[in-house]
Amino acid sequence: MAIERTLSIIKPDATRRNLTGKINARLEEAGLRIVGQRRIRLTREMAEKFYAVHAERSFFNDLCAFMTSGPVVVQVLEGDGAVARNREVMGATNPQNAAPGTIRRDFAESIEANSVHGSDSLDNAAREVAFFFAETDIVG
Ligand code: CMP
Repeated sequence: MAIERTLSIIKPDATRRNLTGKINARLEEAGLRIVGQRRIRLTREMAEKFYAVHAERSFFNDLCAFMTSGPVVVQVLEGDGAVARNREVMGATNPQNAAPGTIRRDFAESIEANSVHGSDSLDNAAREVAFFFAETDIVG
């Protein structure tokens, strides 16, 4: 498989519980390299723009409120098949459906407070990485 980059976000429920290091360890143990990383507080405008694809969904307003409720860690992960690999390590969106040993199964509180986000395709990964990172902020 090819070396890819994907966007990961450690969400406010996880930063609040001081889980950044534990989640990063899971990512690194899975062979993903954290080649860009920044802790930020999303504005409402940024959250709405980032999640624009979900604008018509019933959970959009709550999702944007949650994502702006505390700090997040945005990160670029690099590795062999990184998009799919990260989704495996994260587990299903709803932690109740996530496989044992995945980040969401072990750490997530709910479908909304599900600890991490990961790009769902290579195209979205490129778009989402560019949303938060300049190429000069990514050091492979
Ligand atoms: P994420 O991968 O960040 O992409 C969109 C997010 O919406 C998703 O993770 C969930 O945390 C959140 N969400 C909240 N409610 C739902 C829902 N009913 N279905 C799917 N996603 C939801």
